[in-house]
Amino acid sequence: EIRGFIFDLDGVLTDTAEYHYRAWQRLADEEGLPFNREANEALRGVSRRASLLLIIGNHRQYSEEQIQEMMERKNRYYVDSIENISASDLLPGALNLLDELRQAGIKIALGSASKNARTVIEKLGIADRMDAIADGYSVENPKPAPDLFLFAAKELGLEPAQCLVVEDAASGVEAALAGGMWAVGLGTESRVGAAHVVLPSLEGVHWEDIKAKLNDAAK
Ligand code: BG6
Ligand code: MG
Repeated sequence: EIRGFIFDLDGVLTDTAEYHYRAWQRLADEEGLPFNREANEALRGVSRRASLLLIIGNHRQYSEEQIQEMMERKNRYYVDSIENISASDLLPGALNLLDELRQAGIKIALGSASKNARTVIEKLGIADRMDAIADGYSVENPKPAPDLFLFAAKELGLEPAQCLVVEDAASGVEAALAGGMWAVGLGTESRVGAAHVVLPSLEGVHWEDIKAKLNDAAK
């Protein structure tokens, strides 16, 4: 039985995935590195450092110092771009589902790779709805390793099999499955098809519907 939900943040509760993309695009353009929206799909849910290394590929050689500088530069662009986000930047359906889960007595955790996650949920006005927070400071190994979600489950006092992860990233779905958790993927089959249940978004999604779909998936 599911007793806890672990929500990814960027691309699930709010569309900051778009801001991450724009910040990387700006950096890539400045560096003359090839990058576009399509290439960005592989960066969803991926840590800051791993994202940069994916963009660099074998196009150029950078020193560790240059890599650090580029990570900081991208983060500045990102932090500037989220300065004015507010509750109106919650994606459709997110708040309603959080409310329903609370009503149903289900615990809620954040499971985001981002070091900016706390700032973002505070701006969105949902920080007080989280029973636990796992963010970019919580564990060493990034998604697709299950560590971040296992940390969140532990903080909730639950077993992995009692937890359901909501993710928009292939790496996040992989991490949830590796941790022995249930996974709901948001987006296309090609991106999150490995999840137990795939939905286009949280819009109009109710806890009862997810429960029914998971029962079907378990058959
Ligand atoms: C994830 C995002 O939530 O956090 C990634 O999906 C991002 O795009 C990662 O790279 C790390 O975020 P930050 O804010 O620590 O650079
Ligand atoms: Mg995400």
